[in-house]
Amino acid sequence: MNEKVNRREFVKAGAAAVAAAGITGCATAGAGAGKLAILGGAPIVAKPEAAEFVGLFKWPIVNEAMRKANDRVLCSGNMSGTDIADEFEKKFAAWNGTKYASSAPNGTASLIAAFYAIGLGPGDELICPSITYWASCLGAIHLGATVVFADVEPDTLTLDPKSFEAHITPRTKAVVPVHLYGQPCDMDPIMAIARKHGIKVVEDVSHAQGGLYKGRKLGTIGDCGAMSLMSGKSFAIGEGGMLVTDDKELYRRVVRWGQYERIVRNFSPDEIAATKNLPFGGVKNRLNQCSAAIGIEQLKKYDAEREEIEKAMLYYFKGIEDVKGIKRVYPKWERSNKAGWYASCSIYSPEAFGGLTNTTFARALNAEVGCSKFGARCNFPLHTSSIFDSADIFANSRPPASRFLPPGVSPKTLTGRLPVAEAVNDRVIVDPWFKHFDRPKIDRFIEAVHKVAANAAALRDWELKQKKA
Ligand SMILES: Cc1ncc(COP(=O)(O)O)c(C=O)c1O
Repeated sequence: MNEKVNRREFVKAGAAAVAAAGITGCATAGAGAGKLAILGGAPIVAKPEAAEFVGLFKWPIVNEAMRKANDRVLCSGNMSGTDIADEFEKKFAAWNGTKYASSAPNGTASLIAAFYAIGLGPGDELICPSITYWASCLGAIHLGATVVFADVEPDTLTLDPKSFEAHITPRTKAVVPVHLYGQPCDMDPIMAIARKHGIKVVEDVSHAQGGLYKGRKLGTIGDCGAMSLMSGKSFAIGEGGMLVTDDKELYRRVVRWGQYERIVRNFSPDEIAATKNLPFGGVKNRLNQCSAAIGIEQLKKYDAEREEIEKAMLYYFKGIEDVKGIKRVYPKWERSNKAGWYASCSIYSPEAFGGLTNTTFARALNAEVGCSKFGARCNFPLHTSSIFDSADIFANSRPPASRFLPPGVSPKTLTGRLPVAEAVNDRVIVDPWFKHFDRPKIDRFIEAVHKVAANAAALRDWELKQKKA
């Protein structure tokens, strides 16, 4: 993997962010001594202590106001109205700094509405990074479009602008930069390339609500932002989605696609005369108002929660910054951040640990801390699924992913090989996702990383023996 990040620059940016968060004096590695727990030694965190870690990771944080808001909707029987969703949208738009916001039952629905709204249709190509959740792009094939995948950057896991440009054809209509695992995409080059080629930009903000790229809120840089607000995400309302935009016409198309009750509010009688106020998407994208009410409360506390997560995560990374072979993913630009740190991953170099796999490294870490908060897998490369090229979804010998392409052009060839995406799952460690800045507890995780790193050679021997056995 090509080591693109200038280390000095990376460390400098990190140090500035840590200082900005007021973090000094992290636990350092006195650790390293002792046999690894996975090899039969004593763990850093014994089971009874590990049980106390539940609160450190519990998500979402539910307060009394959220419970009451949910109850009010439930008891009034107003789950299927739109008044509370309207209020949530207005408040979300104001918080996000956009003119319009349109809610949906989930992020998948918001993204499909976005694709329709930017005009994606039969024969068009949508460029998407291969490492993301399928909903970032899959809905596009049901609009008649083909998804073409681009590679990700090895040091950030987000869309590689060069690979994006290399995948453009005369049919490319849109690109979907995904702010993956909280890390903002490098939007300046992406926007410059998109504008040069007349390509629409739908930001997928599902992992980074409220995040900043060079002082700009994510979701406000492209033509629109679409996102998931499901309960595992940083901004969690239960199940839900949101689309944000400054473009009135784009917003109206989102309404026309699936907000059937709002069509009469946004279109003149002449505009809807023949079609009546039926949704063009044939879908009903109405958000359950319990989720909307929870969202209004979430807005009041989200920034504070996000800031505490940022502080906790930066403290953790300060504590392990001397561990060679694990590199934090974090924006290197000023006035940028990693909002919420959803499913954050670090870049792992097996070479720095004598070839030790990330899977065994993560297993050893989990054995030290007594809970499964480390991981070794991110999303799989989507371009390896036949759904995006040849799967005959409707069983009629016309795979939708390629149906409208010119003869002889195949989605597989348009995408080609994506070396970083194909190798990335061997090169990541999923970080423990701390929700609170609890130094003594986080110190135990820092200690665990040092201990496992210091014992990597013994662990590698064990791994090789396991493989042979
Ligand atoms: C990057 C990304 N985009 C879109 C979605 C879809 O959101 P939802 O699950 O709310 O439909 C997800 C959900 O996990 C996601 O991770």
